[in-house]
Amino acid sequence: MASRRVFWLLFWHLGFLGYYKAYGIVVETDTKDVTANEFEEAFLSCKHNEGKEATRVEWKKITKTGVTFVYFEGSFVGDFKKRGERVQSSIRIKNVTRKDSGKYRCEISASTEHGQQIGEVIVSLLVLVPPAPPACEVPSSAMTGTVVELRCKENNGVPASKYRWYRNGVLLPESPALRSIKKERLPYIMNATTGTLLFNSVSKNDTGEYYCEADNKVGQPQKCSVKRMQVDDLNVGGIIAAVVIVALIIASCGLGVYYAQKKGYFSKAHSSARKNKAANSEKDFKHTKSFVI
Ligand SMILES: *[C@@H]1O[C@H](CO)[C@@H](O)[C@H](O)[C@H]1NC(C)=O
Ligand SMILES: *[C@@H]1O[C@H](CO)[C@@H](O)[C@H](O)[C@H]1NC(C)=O
Ligand SMILES: *[C@@H]1O[C@H](CO)[C@@H](O)[C@H](O)[C@H]1NC(C)=O
Repeated sequence: MASRRVFWLLFWHLGFLGYYKAYGIVVETDTKDVTANEFEEAFLSCKHNEGKEATRVEWKKITKTGVTFVYFEGSFVGDFKKRGERVQSSIRIKNVTRKDSGKYRCEISASTEHGQQIGEVIVSLLVLVPPAPPACEVPSSAMTGTVVELRCKENNGVPASKYRWYRNGVLLPESPALRSIKKERLPYIMNATTGTLLFNSVSKNDTGEYYCEADNKVGQPQKCSVKRMQVDDLNVGGIIAAVVIVALIIASCGLGVYYAQKKGYFSKAHSSARKNKAANSEKDFKHTKSFVI
């Protein structure tokens, strides 16, 4: 009898290590990966082969730091109280939000004539969220031949958005993948995943009104406001201004050094030279003195 108890104790603890599935209750789900739109409902299925009597149902959410209770001791917990509904061992959650995304564990336990038995199944829930209007970075001006990168990003969408760029209202074709057979020569590299539009050597032809669109197939694609990029050749006025500024900087540095020297800031060498001179003159003085005596 005692050895039997030890056996079941061991069995139970092995259960905690995740081995009980082999011995315990068979628990299954019809909905291994659930996706639901935000603010709609999600159904997480859980089924088992035990009789209804004396079985206990618990639902937990697996978080980074451990587990939190969803359904425990016959009722929903926390903010699931108003939103949860039990359907046999399964649960329905109303008005899911992005915070509800994650892994949920259905745990079934029963006291049978063989002792405490337990089984579990994990259901993943992904709450889909439409994109927000993206933020775009478009330089208002650029110089011909320089590298220019336009950026587009939004952080709302689940799954993460893909990006498209438009110039003057026309969709820019995506860069063909490396090693693609028909390599078109596009003046840019567009990355739909990161949202960047890179010109390695921008030309006047790239001047235009740009905007981008974020799309994750959930809800409507979202766009940023249109921004103009003007590409111009190097202008002479600009060069002259730059030269004048550089000349001014050099001149002011020179003046600074001059005044600093005048005030004796760099005078380590100076002062030691002066000291030497003073010592010398003293020696000279002694010399003349002894000569006089
Ligand atoms: C759904 O949840 C959101 C956020 O928690 C809340 O603002 C909204 O009022 C809820 N909607 C319903 C119908 O309960
Ligand atoms: C886009 O950027 C990502 C991350 O930097 C990179 O892994 C991917 O290969 C890029 N795609 C293209 C088409 O350049
Ligand atoms: C600019 O566009 C015109 C017409 O679209 C084309 O003929 C010309 O070659 C382009 N120039 C450059 C530098 O891409």
